[in-house]
Amino acid sequence: MKQHGHPAMFPEKLVLRALKLFSFRGDVVLDPFNGAGTTTLTAHHFGRNYLGIDCSAEYCKTAKQRIADRGEILRETQVRTPHPIRH
Ligand SMILES: C[S@@+](CC[C@H](N)C(=O)[O-])C[C@H]1O[C@@H](n2cnc3c(N)ncnc32)[C@H](O)[C@@H]1O
Repeated sequence: MKQHGHPAMFPEKLVLRALKLFSFRGDVVLDPFNGAGTTTLTAHHFGRNYLGIDCSAEYCKTAKQRIADRGEILRETQVRTPHPIRH
């Protein structure tokens, strides 16, 4: 599934199913490979707190924008990218 400029997004329905199975309202959902932010968007809509991490600053921007585009104010959300790994 390719949308929002990301080549491998999860379908929202799949994320929603997992979110409802494994968390309750008010829980914190962590996605360390958040990509275009399907997990954080779904968590936002279903009353979870959330933290999304991705090594791509561009995808982090997309993830934040997707939440903002739905007309809702970002709460304490801060999307950070890790420092590049040096080998
Ligand atoms: C399959 S995609 C996740 C797609 C996401 N579930 C969505 O719906 O948009 C995996 C993501 O992991 C990120 N990634 C890969 N290695 C990483 C790392 N070491 N640390 C953080 N993010 C990483 C990639 O940039 C990519 O966006």
